Formats: sequence, structure tokens, C-alpha cells
Amino acid sequence: MASNVKGPVWSDTAKVPSFSPLTTDTSADVCIVGAGIAGLTTAYLLTQIGKTVVVLDDGAIGSGQTGATTAHLVNALDDRFMDLEKYHGERGSRLAAESHSAAVDRIESIVTRERIACDFTRLDGYLFLAPEHDEHYLDRELEAAHRAGLHNVVKVGRAPISFDTGPCLRFPSQAQFHVLKYVAGLAEAIERGGGKIYTGTHAATIDGGKDAAVKTNSGNTVRAGSIVVATNTPVNDRVVVHTKQAPYMTYVIGAPVRKGSVTLALYWDTGDPYHYVRLVTGIDAENDLLIIGGEDHKSGQADDIEERHPRLESWARERFPMMGEVTHKWGGQVMEPMDGLAFIGRNPLDAGNVYMVTGDSGNGMTHGTIAGMLITDQVAGRHNPWEALYDPGRVTLRATDEFAKENLNVAVQYTDWLSKGDVSSVDDIPKDSGAVMRKGAAKIAVYRDATGSLHERSAVCPHLGCIVQWNPSEKTWDCPCHGSRFTKFGEVMNGPANVGLVRS
Ligand SMILES: Cc1cc2nc3c(=O)[nH]c(=O)nc-3n(C[C@H](O)[C@H](O)[C@H](O)COP(=O)(O)OP(=O)(O)OC[C@H]3O[C@@H](n4cnc5c(N)ncnc54)[C@H](O)[C@@H]3O)c2cc1C
Ligand code: FES
Repeated sequence: MASNVKGPVWSDTAKVPSFSPLTTDTSADVCIVGAGIAGLTTAYLLTQIGKTVVVLDDGAIGSGQTGATTAHLVNALDDRFMDLEKYHGERGSRLAAESHSAAVDRIESIVTRERIACDFTRLDGYLFLAPEHDEHYLDRELEAAHRAGLHNVVKVGRAPISFDTGPCLRFPSQAQFHVLKYVAGLAEAIERGGGKIYTGTHAATIDGGKDAAVKTNSGNTVRAGSIVVATNTPVNDRVVVHTKQAPYMTYVIGAPVRKGSVTLALYWDTGDPYHYVRLVTGIDAENDLLIIGGEDHKSGQADDIEERHPRLESWARERFPMMGEVTHKWGGQVMEPMDGLAFIGRNPLDAGNVYMVTGDSGNGMTHGTIAGMLITDQVAGRHNPWEALYDPGRVTLRATDEFAKENLNVAVQYTDWLSKGDVSSVDDIPKDSGAVMRKGAAKIAVYRDATGSLHERSAVCPHLGCIVQWNPSEKTWDCPCHGSRFTKFGEVMNGPANVGLVRS
């Protein structure tokens, strides 16, 4: 990445409050691991019903996938309503639409109640056709959206944009915001409500049951009546949920456009992978920032990663010729559930007082908010109409084909133990780059830093033993099996692994 190109626009344009690490034992009604949108929304809503909460994060608040989002707030999910209907029936599809609409409304009401200045804006969303689809596809989706209860969705001739999208669906009353300003506001409201937030605090073990407790790397214990694992992908459940979702990397670019030259709305196409587009307003007096995402691939399974941002730029320039030079580039990971909906609720493997939220796809802003609403009801012992739909223990028989395909793909990754390395000599690794090498029977992950020094780790993922891959765009080690990611020096960034790559 050229040095004058920045990372995510959010951290470039806002600061989040900092918190101290946990240095003593403590207790609370609920301990929440993870201070992304899911963990913080859950903590906030629990404080609103009088529960005491302790939130732990090993980074800063919003420093996980929340800080990498593009923050489209939609009731039109990544998966089409016609697919949700196939997996969950007409009633399930209706509940999905209802819960995502309620999540956008809940974000709006929190913004108003807590006076969070986060640029929350209601706007229309447009779903337009990728070349491989025809109008019939839109007609089928329109009918499915209506059956899901979204009667205000209409087909229009084209989106109000610089290129001819052709016919598309307009979803009224979607929204967008500045995600870090929002989570900063949530964190302040949690503390006003008596909650405690500790950052720089890694949860090493999580145990449910009568003596439920989270132990931290520094040896402190948080005892709690309930625990919520909001780490994006659970670090406590080694297998079950990970066979029902798949990790995908997705990439984003941002470039200035003159104010008013692109209509303020959300846009996304029907491609697979799809493109998603929005504006960040007020980047300076004259310009907005146009951000475009897409080019997704299964994590740790692409050999053309460096071409992903340039391909995104070509796609964007063809359609938005008014765009200036690219100023921001970043990437992140989404967990794709096999039946289109997140896994939110009680961990099926625990004693009933450990909760999880994962599989939130490219709809993690709303899924994370739904998690806050649903888990709060569960902790309070209240009925919630969405409980069965999002149950992490569910088996969706109509998604069996997806399940078999993704798990076969994982099984194939283990054959990488037998393959040659990316390079046969460390001399072939340029500065600030990495490669997997064979060392006898072992595979090692070697990173050469900017000064030329080498840093070696085992290339074996500590979760379930797949071989990691170097991601040259993000400068990370990515596991192709269930999405664990590690820094260039081998420290864990994303679960399900909860420790780093071991020293080789
Ligand atoms: C490029 C991109 C674009 C996206 N666009 C959209 C969009 O437009 N709309 C939308 O709705 N969604 C979008 N998403 C998805 C959305 O951003 C995520 O699903 C969502 O932010 C996940 O939030 P989270 O709170 O579950 O996880 P995270 O934000 O990842 O938070 C998890 C936290 O847990 C912490 N943690 C992990 N392990 C431990 C441990 N052992 N101890 C302590 N702390 C730990 C991490 O440090 C992290 O802060 C996008 C995602 C990406 C990557
Ligand atoms: S994430 Fe499961 S083996 Fe790496």
C-alpha cells in the first residue's frame, strides 16, 4: 500500500475513547467479551434494564471488523429474500426483514436518546443488476421482499446515479452512519449506565455454568451470571458453529467526489461477489468520499489478492468517472452463514448462560444490533420472537448443499500440509512480505520486515491445524479453514484461534 493512501476512513476521521486494561478480579451480572458493535450494543441494552456489565476487549473499542465496515444499515440483507424464504420459509423471511428493520430503528433511537453525533442519515438503497442477471431476477426478488412484509420496496427504471444501472429495486428508509463515532457514543453511554469497559485485555478462557467466569491473559478473573462471546467468531466453541459458516475477505477503496456529483443513497449489485457503494459526507468543504467495496474471496484461498483493490478501482472508475485519486484502501473479513442469517443466542455447547453472536455476514451492523436486543431479552428471561430464527444450534435442512460444499472445501485445505512452500529460499522473500516455506516435515510462516530481518512462526493454525496463507494486501497470515487471522508477527487477530502462531 502506497504510504499516502490511508486505511479505513473511520479511524482517519474520528477518535474512540481509550480505556484501561483489567488489573484486578471483578464480577458483574454479565461479562461481554468483544467491544465491537455486537458487544457494545448488548452491553448498552443490558445496562438499560439495570444489569451490571463488564466488557473486555484485547484491542481498542471498534478495532475489530466494526472498524473495517462500510456501515450500510439495511433491512435488505446480503442474501436475497427469495433465498431466505427457501432456507427459512415465508415466516422466517418475514421475521428476518422485521428484525433488521427493527435494528435500524433501534440504532436511530439510541442515537437520539444518547445524543450521539455520528452522522446517522436515513436514505434509499438501490439493488441493481450485475451482468449475469436479468430483470426476471429482480421481479422474483421484489415479490419475495413483498411477501417478507417490505411492501414499500418498488422497481424503478434506474438508480439516480452517473451510469445507467438499468432497472433496480428501491428499498426506502435504509440508513448510514459513522461507525466509530457511534461505538464511541455507545461506550460513553455504557459507562454512564454504570458499565465497565476494559481494553488491552485478552480473554484466555471462558467457562459457563454455576461458576461462570472469564480468565484473562494477565491472570485476572471476571465472575458473572452470564457471558456473551461477541468476538465476531467464537473463541470458546472449537468446532460446532464453525462448520456452519465460512470466512470471506472483502476489500474497500475510497476516493473523493465533488459534493452533489453522486446522489446520497446506498447502492449494491446482484453479483457474486457483489459491489457495495456509499458516500461519507463532509470529508472536506468541497468533497464527499465515495467508498466502494467488493472483490470478496474465501479467506486464505486466493492467489491474486494484490489485484483485488486495483480491480475494484477499475470497476469504480468505469461507473464514477468523476472520482479523484484513491485516498483510502482497506480490507476485512465477514463470516458467511450457510443459510443467510447470523447465529445469535445461547451457545448450544454450554450450560445455558453463555451466549454468542457470529455469522453476521455483510450485515453485521444490524445483526450486531439484533444480538443486543435478543440476548438482552434472553438474559432477562423475556420472550423474543426472533429466538428460534437465529438459534446457533439450528440445523437448516434446506441449506444442506451449502453445508456439504463448504465443509468439503475445508477438508481439501488440509492437503496443503503435503504441498511445497510458496518459496524454497528466504532469499526469495522481499522486504515487508511473507511466505510459507517447507522446513523438513514442517511448514513455517516467514515474514521479512522492512529492515530485512526475518520472523519465523509455525504455519500451522492453532485452531484445528490448517496451514495459513500470506495476505499481501493486508500483510496478515490468514487461515483458509475457519477464518483465524494473525498479524505479520504471528499474533492472533481473529478467532476462532485464541492464541498466536507458535514460534517455530
Ligand atoms: C469491508 C467490510 C465491509 C462491511 N460492510 C458492512 C455494511 O455495510 N453493513 C453491515 O451491516 N455490515 C458490514 N460489514 C460487517 C460488519 O462490519 C461486521 O459484521 C461487524 O462489524 C462485526 O461486529 P462484531 O462486534 O461482531 O465483531 P468485531 O467488530 O470484530 O468485534 C469483536 C471484538 O472482539 C475482540 N476480541 C476477539 N477475541 C478476543 C479475546 N479473546 N479477548 C478479548 N477480546 C477479543 C476483538 O478485538 C474485537 O474488537 C462489513 C465488514 C467488512 C469487513
Ligand atoms: S481457523 Fe480453524 S484451522 Fe485455522
